[in-house]
Amino acid sequence: MSPLKAWRAAIVHCLDDPKVVGIHAAYDYFEDGLLVVQNDKIVALGHAKELLASLPADTIIEHHPDAIIAPGFVDTHIHYPQTDMIGSYGEQLLTWLNTYTFPEERKFSDKAHARDVADRFLRELLRNGTTTALVFGTVHKVSVEAFFEASEVHNLRMICGKVMMDRNAPEYLTDTPETSYQESKELIDTWHNKGRLHYAITPRFAPTSSDSQLALAGKLLNEYDDVYMHTHLSENKDECAWVQDLFPASKDYLDVYDQHQLLSERSVFAHGIHLCDSEYHRLHETGSAIAFCPTSNLFIGSGLFKLSKAEEYKVNVGLGTDVGGGTSFSMLQTMNEAYKVIQLQNENLSPIKSLYLSTLGGAKALKLEDKIGNLAVGTEADFVILDKKATPLLTSRLALSKSIEESLFVFMTLGDDRAIQATYAAGQCVHQR
Ligand code: GUN
Ligand code: ZN
Repeated sequence: MSPLKAWRAAIVHCLDDPKVVGIHAAYDYFEDGLLVVQNDKIVALGHAKELLASLPADTIIEHHPDAIIAPGFVDTHIHYPQTDMIGSYGEQLLTWLNTYTFPEERKFSDKAHARDVADRFLRELLRNGTTTALVFGTVHKVSVEAFFEASEVHNLRMICGKVMMDRNAPEYLTDTPETSYQESKELIDTWHNKGRLHYAITPRFAPTSSDSQLALAGKLLNEYDDVYMHTHLSENKDECAWVQDLFPASKDYLDVYDQHQLLSERSVFAHGIHLCDSEYHRLHETGSAIAFCPTSNLFIGSGLFKLSKAEEYKVNVGLGTDVGGGTSFSMLQTMNEAYKVIQLQNENLSPIKSLYLSTLGGAKALKLEDKIGNLAVGTEADFVILDKKATPLLTSRLALSKSIEESLFVFMTLGDDRAIQATYAAGQCVHQR
C-alpha cells in the first residue's frame, strides 16, 4: 500500500447549490483542515487536529498555514485552438469569427502545431488551477488527437471534440455530414472513456451546420450512452436573427438543436444569453446545461447572461472562460467578471455561488459530480492551493478578512494565476508556481 499524503491548510468546498439549500448549507469549511489522499483519491477530509492522530506514521504531510485549499476549477467552455488569438481587437461575434478565428483554426490541420498549442494550453489551464475543461477542437481530426495525447501526459479529466461544420465557413475549414459523422465516431471509439478522457460531439453552432449534419450529430449522440454534446447557443443578436433565417421552421434557436435530438443530460450550450422562457424550460426538461462565459460576453459585446432566469427554471449552469473570445484562462478572473455581469442587472452573485459555479456546479453540468467538483471522500484528488500572500495587495487585503466568504470574494476579485500556488490532478502535482 502506498503511503498516504496529506495537506494541512484552510480548506473549503461546496456541497450543493446555494440557490437550492441556502448559502450556509452549500459549503463546508475547515479553518485548520486536513485533506488526505491515497494514490489518486481523497480518503479523508476534516479538522487537522482530529485527523492527524489517526494517520499512519509514514504519512507525508505538507503544511500551508497561509493557504486555502479548494477543488480544482471546472471550465465548462473553452477553445484550445484559440489560445494564440486571445485578445483580438474590435469585433463582435460573426465578424470576429471570420476575421480572426477561422484563419487561426486553419493551422490545426498540422498535428505538430496542434500538439504545441495543446501543450501550452494545458500548462496555462493548470497554472490557473483548472483541472477539468470542456474543450472545442477544430474541424481537423488531428486537432483532437493532439489534445487528448497532451492531456493523457498529465492524467487530466478532460472532454474534447472535433468541430462539425459543413457550411457558412471557409472551404479550408469545412467537412461534410458524412465525414464529420465518421471521424467523430472514430475519435469516440478511440478516446471516449480512455483513462480520464471523454468525447463531446461538437457541431460549432447552428449557422455552420446543415440540417443533415445536425441530424447525423443527433444520431451519433443516440448511439452512445454517455458521450457529450457541446455547441453554442444564442450568444449574439445578429447570430440569433441569422439562425431564424436559416431555419425558418424552428420555433426558436434551441429548437434547431432539439429537432435533431441534441438536447440531453450531457449537452452543454455555451452562452444562452438571448433565450425565451420556453427555451429555459426545455433546457431544464432535458437536463441540458448552459456555460456562462462572462469575460467573453463582455469582450465580444454579446450581452448579459441572466443567471436568475436559469435558476428560476432550474437549468444546470457552469462557468466557462470561452478563450479566445474570453480574455482570461483564470477562473478567478472569470468569477470577477461574472460578479460584474450580475451587478449590472441589479443582483448579487455571492462568493459561495461563484465557487459553486466554478467547481461542483460545473461538475454537475458535466455529470461528473461523483468524480470531481468537490473534496468529498472517494472523489478524485483534483485540487488547488490558493496562496493568501501571492501579491502585496492580496496579503494586506486578506489580513483584514473576517470570514471565509470574504476571503473567497477577495481571491475572486484580486486573484489570478499568481494566486495559484500549486495544482494537483489525480493526486499528482501538475503545477507548482
Ligand atoms: N460561435 C460559433 N463559434 C464560436 C466561437 O469560436 N467562439 C464563440 N464565442 N462563439 C462562437
Ligand atoms: Zn465558444
